[in-house]
Amino acid sequence: MKIHLRVWRQAGPTQAGRLVDYTVDDISKEMSFLEMLDVVNEGIIARGEDPIAFDSDCREGICGTCGFLINGLPHGPVRGSTVCQLHMRSFRDGDTLVVEPWRAKGFPLVKDLIVDRSAFDRIIRAGGYTSINVGGPRDANSILIAKDTVEQAMDSAACIACGACVAACKNASAVLFTSAKISHLALLPQGQVERYTRVVDMVERHDAEGFGSCSNEGECEAVCPKEIPITNIARMNREYLKATLLLGR
Ligand code: SF4
Ligand code: FES
Repeated sequence: MKIHLRVWRQAGPTQAGRLVDYTVDDISKEMSFLEMLDVVNEGIIARGEDPIAFDSDCREGICGTCGFLINGLPHGPVRGSTVCQLHMRSFRDGDTLVVEPWRAKGFPLVKDLIVDRSAFDRIIRAGGYTSINVGGPRDANSILIAKDTVEQAMDSAACIACGACVAACKNASAVLFTSAKISHLALLPQGQVERYTRVVDMVERHDAEGFGSCSNEGECEAVCPKEIPITNIARMNREYLKATLLLGR
């Protein structure tokens, strides 16, 4: 396959960025998108130039490290896929693909296709955990939970914190991510102790990080590689309302 790429190149957060054209020949349609970028980078390095910077780790769709826009779509055109699991057979020979980083105030650009997603870590740090203050945790198998509840909680826990939901949202809102993290703990018995302080603290942190509000567009659900539904956002809003009434915050 022959592919024309227009890749966002930006040496650092304060430098000006621009789209740079690259053409690659002899790309196998079985390659992943990231393997194709590896080939592009080999050529760039051979010319003594600076390779395209992008994030990746597992390359199996489970860690959430990869992610950028392809022709404006987070993780590219295949629904329910991360960009590391996207294969070149999803494109046609001769296609021109514009590759850009996530663009959101809460995700400042580091270099080229890499953005700083540490805001997600700070939202988790605000309450996305359960604390065990004394003794050891009980064996999870000894706590009985209804099957439907477990499945809902696990579906929410599937979020890999990639940030595609933010990139797709016109408000750069991170509520799909935040609500998935709040939901999975709110549904489980282990998450009950901090249930109401958690939702208020995490929502406040979300807002403080510069992410916008939800206006029910549903773009986040459409691009989420783990197909996290926006019902999580509705649950987060209910949890938040209950928490503010109970805690008076
Ligand atoms: S909700 Fe989906 S798109 Fe958003 S961070 Fe989690 S896995 Fe990524
Ligand atoms: S590199 Fe781990 S999800 Fe893509």
